Amino acid sequence: MTKIYIPFLAATLLASCAGNDVADKSTNTASAEKADDRDYHTLSNADSVAVTHLDLDINVDFDKRQISGSAHWDIRQIHPSNHVVFDTEDLTIDSVVMDDGSKADFKMGALDKELGKALSVAITAQTKSLTVYYKTGNATALQWLAPQQTASKKTPFLYTQSESIYARSWIPCQDGPGIRFTYNAKVKVPKDLLALMSAENPQQKSADGSYSFKMDKPIPAYLMALAVGDIGFKSIDNRSGVYAEHSMLDKAHKEFEDIGGMITIAEKLYGPYRWGRYDVLVLPPGFPIGGMENPKLTFSTPTIITGDKSLVNLIAHELAHNWSGNLVTNKTWNDFWLNEGFTVYFERRITEAMQGKSYVDMLWELSHQDLEASMKGLPERDTWLRLNLKGRHPELGLTDVAYEKGAHFLWLIEKTVGREKFDIFLKDYFNSHAFQTMTTSQFLKYLDEKLLNGHDDWKKAIDINAWIFGPGLPANCPTPDRERLSKVDAMIKKFEGGAIAADLGIKDWSTYEWLHFLRNLKTSVKAERLADLDKTFKLTQTPNSEIADIWFVQAIKAEYEPAYPAMKSFLLVTGRQKFLEPLYRTMMETGKAQMAKDIFAVSKENYHPLAQKNIEGIIKGDNKYE
Ligand code: BES
Ligand code: ZN
Repeated sequence: MTKIYIPFLAATLLASCAGNDVADKSTNTASAEKADDRDYHTLSNADSVAVTHLDLDINVDFDKRQISGSAHWDIRQIHPSNHVVFDTEDLTIDSVVMDDGSKADFKMGALDKELGKALSVAITAQTKSLTVYYKTGNATALQWLAPQQTASKKTPFLYTQSESIYARSWIPCQDGPGIRFTYNAKVKVPKDLLALMSAENPQQKSADGSYSFKMDKPIPAYLMALAVGDIGFKSIDNRSGVYAEHSMLDKAHKEFEDIGGMITIAEKLYGPYRWGRYDVLVLPPGFPIGGMENPKLTFSTPTIITGDKSLVNLIAHELAHNWSGNLVTNKTWNDFWLNEGFTVYFERRITEAMQGKSYVDMLWELSHQDLEASMKGLPERDTWLRLNLKGRHPELGLTDVAYEKGAHFLWLIEKTVGREKFDIFLKDYFNSHAFQTMTTSQFLKYLDEKLLNGHDDWKKAIDINAWIFGPGLPANCPTPDRERLSKVDAMIKKFEGGAIAADLGIKDWSTYEWLHFLRNLKTSVKAERLADLDKTFKLTQTPNSEIADIWFVQAIKAEYEPAYPAMKSFLLVTGRQKFLEPLYRTMMETGKAQMAKDIFAVSKENYHPLAQKNIEGIIKGDNKYE
């Protein structure tokens, strides 16, 4: 369930990486590979000349669908160099100006299909800062929505998604997770719109569409974010609130009203929240992912707003990133599990504190099912926690391995050393590495020094190597109690044995019981059985996107046609790839290619460019990632 279906671009990238020996079997390269902490996904020379601060001054032009302006960068020269190199993707560089007003010499490198182009600027030993004047092209990070794609239908909307390496498509920057900088920004937008960033934010519109932002903590480029639209704000407490399009605001506020308590729980676990305010921005439904941990302002899909708070663990996840990820950041995308695995573990701890153990045990179980399923489709080398993405796009690391194998590994450590000791360890880990980057080997060293040293029995029980530098799911993987889901298993049996829905005695099921029930129904369930379930539980009409998605998958398989109109409406507005992918794929796999094409033709415009590409791949039949 925590699966982010479809690494962006997976289809195209896999094809283009076919010549790359993914599972490098030669053992003598193994130790060199483990020690190689270079970031292969930035073209910058941040090891020699690193940016430290950005003053961004940009204009957002909805007619041209273009951002233009300047990026003034302060730089620090670590090793002597006569140039500083930035990442760019489809940017036009108009000029580069030195502090004394003189034009700098610059040149663009050759186009790398995945990494973009290097912008290399000549500097002297005295250069402390410079300004790049630029405009965006077809920027991967930007989704521009026409007015009719918003709730109000009156004004356009724009949002960014910079992770993993897309910040370079709207700002010339040193775009690696190991490179941090503070920033100020001036952003000019049409005057009836509000602009928000991953920074201190306004709570209401300005008179003339000019906004100023400040982020005084150093962050990596993938956390640069901007959203512009007819957005309102509603406060939750003195340090948190919700932003959304006006018609969503009250609903979103109600769903997220417990966020204050969530932050307090997180702080009790792993130390103070260090970013000042914590707000959530609810985006239009085309947002291609579930959530993004932009500092001070989590970006969220509206598909978690169900009316019963059952999907707010996604907010717990993005909140948790303010420790794991935003405070202590993976140095390279090979160490992605340090961001996501830690965050899933932390998210579950928050959820456990809020909902109880038997509830969170269901999340562990369902995610374990996801993990097993997705590992089956991955090349063996991509199932190690420490990835090797050299020469490949970082999105290929965006699988359940980083998330769930990572979280299960931490859960195993917790179970081995005891929760109390592990919590102290983690709190110290976040505190002592705040605003720093972390590699897998640094983490393992720290783990050994601070927690495992002198405890050979623990080390043996955990078997770090098998988890980090080995494939699949080691045999010592912890499993949750199945107190609640075993009852669901009994219901599945009963239903498959012929019992009618009304006689199952299902009541007070949470989302997760439903998900377990629906996803584990045999593929041979016939349409009339689904009709019976639907009549009793109104599943076609469910306001819960997670339940709807798996229900529609079953409906496609069983050709339960009464669910199709609702499914089509769902696919028309929802751009979240986790939901799109299984539905389009199931249509393709069950001989309904025409239906998939027809739905895609009318819905396409509402999907993010990357999601469009991905679904096109599925429809063409060339996405064989899993
Ligand atoms: N940071 C990720 C999203 C991401 C990762 C985007 C890598 C692009 C590249 C975010 O925190 C995330 O994990 N979102 C999940 C939420 C879920 C795990 C609760 C999502 O969008 O589904
Ligand atoms: Zn995450």
